[in-house]
Amino acid sequence: MTGPAVPNHAVLAELTNVAHDAACQAASLIHDGRPDRVEVATTKTSPQDVVTAMDLAAEQCLRTYLHQVRPGDGILGEEQGYEPGTSGVTWVVDPIDGTVNYLYGLASYAVLVAAVTAPGVPDPATWTVLASCVRAPALDHTWTATRGGGAWCDGRQLHVGPPPELGLCLLGTGFGYRREVRERQGQVVAGLLPQVRDLRRMGSAGLDLCAVADGRLDLFYETGLNPWDLAAGALIAQEAGAQVSGLRGTCAGPAMTVAGHPGRLPELITYLEQARADDLV
Ligand code: IPD
Ligand code: CA
Ligand code: CA
Repeated sequence: MTGPAVPNHAVLAELTNVAHDAACQAASLIHDGRPDRVEVATTKTSPQDVVTAMDLAAEQCLRTYLHQVRPGDGILGEEQGYEPGTSGVTWVVDPIDGTVNYLYGLASYAVLVAAVTAPGVPDPATWTVLASCVRAPALDHTWTATRGGGAWCDGRQLHVGPPPELGLCLLGTGFGYRREVRERQGQVVAGLLPQVRDLRRMGSAGLDLCAVADGRLDLFYETGLNPWDLAAGALIAQEAGAQVSGLRGTCAGPAMTVAGHPGRLPELITYLEQARADDLV
């Protein structure tokens, strides 16, 4: 299937700047406005799946800014859903990725902003991610990527380094919010733990993908990610030279997202396929 055309360099550069400015604005809002005691506003898929007033305010901030500077574009956001546009570009945003960390005062949370071109509602199976930004205000780091233009962190270009053997790989993963999903995820990760250097569960899939891009993780996988969890970080990891995909030759998506150096990722994919790790969503 042929998707919508990828815009030229000037447009891609503009989208990267807009992603950057939008993410920085919302990130300042959630960081500077974080109350000493963050309250849960509501819950979603389980009592553990929380939304704070700041998730809602940050998404509104992103929408207001994006409407102002790119009025014809669509927006898909975690908290307010999909609003179609007319330009062929849709913004896929997660106003706080790592809300549980934000709730507890842990620094690993970020605003994720990506521009995609997609036929209809953005779907990782059919979209092309054009530009993205991940801003982590409590860590004071900003990652950006432009399709075909590389990945950057705080002005430094990122290149995924040569992979260590599997036994020396630091592996990142995450867990869903529903109990039955977590039970299965726990079984899968138990089989991997003896095979790798160690495991990290940092609590933000977007930041995990940036960590693959800048070498703070060697490998990452997670089931159950939504489009807004993965659009921004996936482009950053890919533009740094990582492979980002699903299992059995599919692309990254809700069933499975794996990321890492193309020379090491196949071993992780083989394990996950044999463990039928994607059999749970
Ligand atoms: C979550 C984080 C977490 C991942 C979950 C996501 P949220 O996003 O990315 O690391 O394990 O699957 O839902 O709820 O903090 O936006
Ligand atoms: Ca998220
Ligand atoms: Ca979120």
